Amino acid sequence: MIAPDLPAELKGALDAKLEGLPRSDVATRAAAISRTYREGGGSGAIKSATDALAYALARMPATYAAVAACLNALCEIRPGFAPKTLLDVGAGPGTATSAVAEAFSSLGSFALLDANPALRTLALDLLGDNPRFHGLNYESGDARSALAKAEPADLVIASYLIGELRETERKSLVEAMWDKTRDTLLIVEPGTPAGYARILNARTQLIAAGAQVLAPCPHDNACPLQAPDWCHFSQRLARSRAHRQVKGADVPFEDERFAYVVLTREPVAARPSRILAQPVVGKAEISAKLCTPDGVTIVKVPRRDKAAYAGARHWRWGDAMMEKS
Ligand SMILES: C[S@@+](CC[C@H](N)C(=O)[O-])C[C@H]1O[C@@H](n2cnc3c(N)ncnc32)[C@H](O)[C@@H]1O
Repeated sequence: MIAPDLPAELKGALDAKLEGLPRSDVATRAAAISRTYREGGGSGAIKSATDALAYALARMPATYAAVAACLNALCEIRPGFAPKTLLDVGAGPGTATSAVAEAFSSLGSFALLDANPALRTLALDLLGDNPRFHGLNYESGDARSALAKAEPADLVIASYLIGELRETERKSLVEAMWDKTRDTLLIVEPGTPAGYARILNARTQLIAAGAQVLAPCPHDNACPLQAPDWCHFSQRLARSRAHRQVKGADVPFEDERFAYVVLTREPVAARPSRILAQPVVGKAEISAKLCTPDGVTIVKVPRRDKAAYAGARHWRWGDAMMEKS
């Protein structure tokens, strides 16, 4: 399991880049970039080095936390997974690459690609001096053409990327990413109904192409949730001083909502059910909404069943219900 917070070297490198820059300028750019995202725009608003830094300070902690939670879910189900090669598509400032490097000491080859030159430069500044990323290769260009030239990798990740693609491009890019996946593909999106819908489409498309779902679903069947419900999760992360300043926020933490799917070519041994919302602890019982191989159900653990109740108090939104061996 890896922590949701940015590794110390990365946080230190980000803080160092902020040294000497007027924080109000960075905060203004971060607010403008966030506004663009809220209005449905993408990272095209990130043009300068200050823009890239503002984006990274404001969003990297949260997207890192979401990817870390997905990797923890993956590792819980496949503890022996030891990828040697990574392909990070739409890598931006190197967020997912950093999380994967923390999660898998087996990784020795890091291939990143992205269309945004300012984010690429920032990623190389942040990661370039770290011996962990020795030999890292970061291709500049549109994902479609850069992917065509990329080597297949054991683990392929698209973190907060597919929402930036045009509807017409998404399907072919998902197909191209799967073609480059030797073992496992992780797609992460914002935990909005629209983000979930994109995840669901990619999931359906790739199951039809032979993929198996490793997480979060305990099955490869159609998603049993009915609109307006949608599958998403939440990860709490600490906000550093710089993070708070750039976001103009006082609260020392935030909750990142995300949707994801982990798809694999390998047989899946465990299909644990998953908790789909924060369990409700009542006076008489704890109840939790579960996605199971047979659909969605509410499990209730009465207080009088002391041992089970004590166990259920530890349940959290997003947890897998692993069988006790
Ligand atoms: C929201 S950012 C996410 C960055 C990073 N993956 C993360 O999780 O922090 C989306 C990234 O996708 C990249 N991107 C969007 N469309 C792209 C395309 N067609 N080809 C390559 N990169 C693209 C952007 O440049 C940006 O770096």
